[in-house]
Amino acid sequence: MEPIWLIGMMGSGKSTVGAEVAARLRWTFVDIDAEIAARVGCSIGELWGSAGEEAFRDMESAQVARLADTVDTVISAGGGVVLRGENVRAMRESGVVVWLDAPPGTLADRLEGDSDRPLLRQSDPQIRLSEIAAEREHRYRSSSHFRLDAAATVGEVAANVVGHVRIKVGDASEVLVGRGFAHDLLPVRPDRRKAALLTQAGALTVAGNVGDRLAETGIEMLNIELPDREAAKTLEAVGEVYKRLAEFNLGRYDTIVGVGGGTVTDAAGFVAATWLRGVESVAVPTTLLGAVDAAIGGKTGLNLSGKNLVGAFWHPSRVNVSLDVLETCPRNLMIEGTAEAVKAGFIADQAIVAAYEESGLGAPLAEIVPKAIAVKAKVVSDDFREQGDRAILNFGHTIGHGIETAAGIPHGHAVAIGMVAAATISAARYGFDAPRLTALLTKLELPIKSPAVDRNTVLDLVARDKKRSSDGIRMVLLEDFGRPRLESVKPAELSAGLAAVGLG
Ligand SMILES: NC(=O)c1ccc[n+]([C@@H]2O[C@H](COP(=O)([O-])OP(=O)(O)OC[C@H]3O[C@@H](n4cnc5c(N)ncnc54)[C@H](O)[C@@H]3O)[C@@H](O)[C@H]2O)c1
Ligand SMILES: [Zn+2]
Repeated sequence: MEPIWLIGMMGSGKSTVGAEVAARLRWTFVDIDAEIAARVGCSIGELWGSAGEEAFRDMESAQVARLADTVDTVISAGGGVVLRGENVRAMRESGVVVWLDAPPGTLADRLEGDSDRPLLRQSDPQIRLSEIAAEREHRYRSSSHFRLDAAATVGEVAANVVGHVRIKVGDASEVLVGRGFAHDLLPVRPDRRKAALLTQAGALTVAGNVGDRLAETGIEMLNIELPDREAAKTLEAVGEVYKRLAEFNLGRYDTIVGVGGGTVTDAAGFVAATWLRGVESVAVPTTLLGAVDAAIGGKTGLNLSGKNLVGAFWHPSRVNVSLDVLETCPRNLMIEGTAEAVKAGFIADQAIVAAYEESGLGAPLAEIVPKAIAVKAKVVSDDFREQGDRAILNFGHTIGHGIETAAGIPHGHAVAIGMVAAATISAARYGFDAPRLTALLTKLELPIKSPAVDRNTVLDLVARDKKRSSDGIRMVLLEDFGRPRLESVKPAELSAGLAAVGLG
């Protein structure tokens, strides 16, 4: 993962919190001040005294540039790191920047008795801290992606920092995951005047907040509520949106913002891909499935007689994922999204599987969501147009889609059943541990048997699936956890897979 940069005033707890966050994530912790002090062999105060502030700042910039290339690192940057634009750019372009913010009184209490603070030497610490905080506040804000309240205990602040991450999807989009939303919901674009926000019934509160925040920045907003669920992904619904966009005069350099579940981000992405031959889109997924799957990867689509028959590849330039929003999702939605998150674990990340095996549905989203997004982002970045490896994301989907259509059950449930079928075929071919996969799905309250539907209907649907190739049904199988392969499956194997989920 890209590094987490902690910035903020002296006394905001960057070093203690940073060390605690790194311990929790099992990442490396680097404190830039300590690193410099170790190199020069004296304290920062002595360094300022002997070599001067500029010499210190040069060393600091060199450290920032070096650390920008690291992975799985939590970095405590000094209070003044934001004074140089080159540092700010390096931090923001390499990872997520979190501003730990606490009132000057709290900072002064924490710094009492600390003699190695050159900036506090001459005057009353609290007054001086208030002055520095006032001078730097706008810099901390504009340099960081997220602001966190740092007045709480180290444990509480560290727990809040965990889960903040930036993930790039190719060169096209950046995903920001955090508590609340990033300061900049939209990437900076001076030529943007307007934005159209598309949402749905279950996401109206979040959409209201997002819309208000954008309006406060001076953007002219148009809010459109789409019909709920799959009805959003229809030509009729999208046709209405085009009419509203025309009245609103949404231009080439304006933005479409989708706030909602996967149906909203799919429909909003499709509108963005087609309006004026393509305008910028930003996604704010509000369901777990949307956050770990639908909003990532640039596939957009509408339903006609079949699901997602019409669509385009169109990457959102920014995806804003709020862990707070996802944590308040109703349990049924959480379980559906869990099917896709655990799928990411089965195909590519043992740590997701381990977290779910340990804690079931109580596994912290702050741990699961960044990891699951990273799996999809990596697969998609390697294969933007789905010509090869991207197909591994379809684990559980070939048979799952057939059962979803035949039985009319939620997608996440169907994927779980499809994964059991694929695991059974994988067990026969490669000795894959199918019982372990099935036991985990059960623990996650996902179904492992299909409702009673006609087996031949499912077989027909599977055969018609667009992932078919000339040499038979192609499916993703698992040699082991984290070792997927795309294979042609024989009719007898398919039958055995269906039998395992009750369609014998
Ligand atoms: N583009 C892709 O790569 C991709 C990948 C996977 C799935 N998808 C698509 O995603 C769609 C499914 O997404 P979904 O499961 O999010 O469904 P959805 O968009 O229909 O949302 C499900 C329900 O949750 C409500 N809701 C949304 N946010 C909520 C919140 N925070 N709290 C409470 N309720 C909330 C909605 O109003 C809706 O009723 C499908 O259409 C599927 O095709 C696309
Ligand atoms: Zn899916």
